Amino acid sequence: MMPQLQGTRVQPLLETLTPFLVVTPYNRPYMNTSPFGLTIPEENIFDPTQVGSEIFLDLLQTMDALTFGPEGMPMARWVFYDASELPGGIYGFGMNAGDIPESVRAEYEIPSDYTGLVPFSMYIAIPTPENGTWFGHNLASLNPVFPTLGLKSLGTVTKAIALRTFQAEVQVGATQWDSEALFIHTRFGPLDLETAYTPAHSEIITLTYVVPCTESAILGALGDSEHQIQRPEPHWWMRADDQERMRILQQRIEAGDRFTIPHKPRVVDDGTTLEVPVHEYGA
Ligand SMILES: CC(C)(COP(=O)(O)OP(=O)(O)OC[C@H]1O[C@@H](n2cnc3c(N)ncnc32)[C@H](O)[C@@H]1OP(=O)(O)O)[C@@H](O)C(=O)NCCC(=O)NCCS
Repeated sequence: MMPQLQGTRVQPLLETLTPFLVVTPYNRPYMNTSPFGLTIPEENIFDPTQVGSEIFLDLLQTMDALTFGPEGMPMARWVFYDASELPGGIYGFGMNAGDIPESVRAEYEIPSDYTGLVPFSMYIAIPTPENGTWFGHNLASLNPVFPTLGLKSLGTVTKAIALRTFQAEVQVGATQWDSEALFIHTRFGPLDLETAYTPAHSEIITLTYVVPCTESAILGALGDSEHQIQRPEPHWWMRADDQERMRILQQRIEAGDRFTIPHKPRVVDDGTTLEVPVHEYGA
């Protein structure tokens, strides 16, 4: 491993996990398959245009159902192909089937005769027409589903290394005000708001954000104390159930005011509600 990753959130995970990438042969030359010196083994690079990738892609869909199913947003198979694998890529970490405890294999419904790589996380991103700007379409980690496996920080690490693999310079994302994923996304820096209330999405309380993903920001997210990210102070906090305030914030964004989510949310009301910090630029 490159010295840069030593002592970061990545190191403990590499005792059990190895990286993988799903990418077409024509997108592959635009990817860095060895970010921070963490090389993706050739056998872990899956070409979605090849029938031989089928079982691994089945497992990715099972993993998505185990993570996003409870969120009510599992992905259809065609979304994987049309909106993920063909235009962008899927980066994640997996474990060899033989190393997985029997109880986990059963819950995951891994075919009993399968001996290959089993995915435990994934980050999907799609390039936009603006050079270096990628839309982060999906982040999933089985850490909360299988807590006994000790995969703490897997979501953060997956997003971080994926962004370097895709050679993204700026990341755009869409997430919900009540999503615990905001604990991860804010690790990469203040999230500048593009929308705060989003009728175009099936979840109206979706926020759209933009965040630069420099190497320093990625290392900061990975817990490298030499790469502290500058964050402004919040002016107020958005309750994740306050749709009226989201609508007002949206009106202000559309009128040209600029806001950012400077750092992670806090939990209120005995753990039932998130409050998300908001900083107003120029206030
Ligand atoms: C969201 C998800 C990716 C998190 O995966 P993960 O591997 O547990 O993530 P990490 O361990 O890297 O980070 C989670 C952090 O959030 C914190 N966190 C999550 N919920 C929290 C809460 N309610 N209160 C306080 N902290 C919370 C965790 O404590 C952890 O921080 P820590 O390392 O300081 O303890 C995973 O739960 C998932 O796949 N969810 C379903 C799909 C989804 O919602 N994806 C995001 C779409 S935008």
